[in-house]
Amino acid sequence: MHQNAPSPSAEPAHRTVLLHEAVDQLLTDPDGVYLDATFGRGGHSREILRRLSPQGRLIAIDRDPQAVAAAAQIQDPRFAMVHAPFSEFAQVLQAQGVTQVDGLLFDLGVSSPQLDQPERGFSFRGDGPLDMRMDTSSGQTVAEYLATAGVDEIATVLRDYGDERAAVQIAKKIVARRDAGAPLTRSSELAALVATAVKSREPGQDPATRTFQALRIHVNAELAQIEAALSRVLSVLKVGGRLVVISFHSLEDALVKRFIQTHARPPAVDRRLPFVPGISAEFQPALKEIVRMRPSAAEIRGNARSRSAMLRVAQRV
Ligand SMILES: C[S@@+](CC[C@H](N)C(=O)[O-])C[C@H]1O[C@@H](n2cnc3c(N)ncnc32)[C@H](O)[C@@H]1O
Repeated sequence: MHQNAPSPSAEPAHRTVLLHEAVDQLLTDPDGVYLDATFGRGGHSREILRRLSPQGRLIAIDRDPQAVAAAAQIQDPRFAMVHAPFSEFAQVLQAQGVTQVDGLLFDLGVSSPQLDQPERGFSFRGDGPLDMRMDTSSGQTVAEYLATAGVDEIATVLRDYGDERAAVQIAKKIVARRDAGAPLTRSSELAALVATAVKSREPGQDPATRTFQALRIHVNAELAQIEAALSRVLSVLKVGGRLVVISFHSLEDALVKRFIQTHARPPAVDRRLPFVPGISAEFQPALKEIVRMRPSAAEIRGNARSRSAMLRVAQRV
């Protein structure tokens, strides 16, 4: 069969963002050991394996059982797939007998199969159960969260994670509907409810975009996952090894940027304080920022989902 021909039962394909750019930056040693912390459908993993020598190794993680199942197609002795949240990547590596790696790749956020399958509940288009968990085997669904959370709590989530100006109005409508005995259970119900609460909207953006993003970030504890993972990077990354992160919105990118800057630059000196000889000389950077880049215009034209992507690369020094 032609490689790009869709099979009749095919799930929505994932178009890997910054495929070659990310792997170019990651692979400093073809004999090395690498972690793909967000396997998805394995776009980056396959390219890493293509470039690794027979001595190289790739350990991949995903918290989505469907992604883990998809990895079974890769039959390669250099490859191992583990179902786990990436906040636990250090334990995963340890269980694989790996203490240090030559590179770590994080391609954050959701995959196209997650977004495009209505039964996952991530999309305001189509209809499915209001779930939005990446790991369908554990944790609270959006429907379960909205069945008990208070107005203030929901509004804070919508404001902090979705920058939603109508956060309070939406939260009040969610709770009023629940109090009237009709809690939200379907993604289409939430999208319709948000449309009644949001007056004006940016051109071309569905009124529910921000609400769905915020609730997804909340139920998957996405920012806490990133912070926990970053806090373990320095303990596993070999000197000369690379951290490569692709983020898709400013909340994710801000965490990555701050992490790299904190470990790459000396802390700012407060010039009002007395001069303490040697204080800035004591700062030993653990990382060096190598590059940051966005997808090319051609990639964005071919894949609209890549338009908000930001790639950041740092090297352990
Ligand atoms: C953008 S997709 C990755 C696509 C992949 N690079 C490819 O080319 O196919 C993000 C994937 O990361 C997974 N993911 C997101 N957050 C995660 C976390 N905290 N722990 C483990 N997996 C996570 C999602 O389930 C999703 O499959």
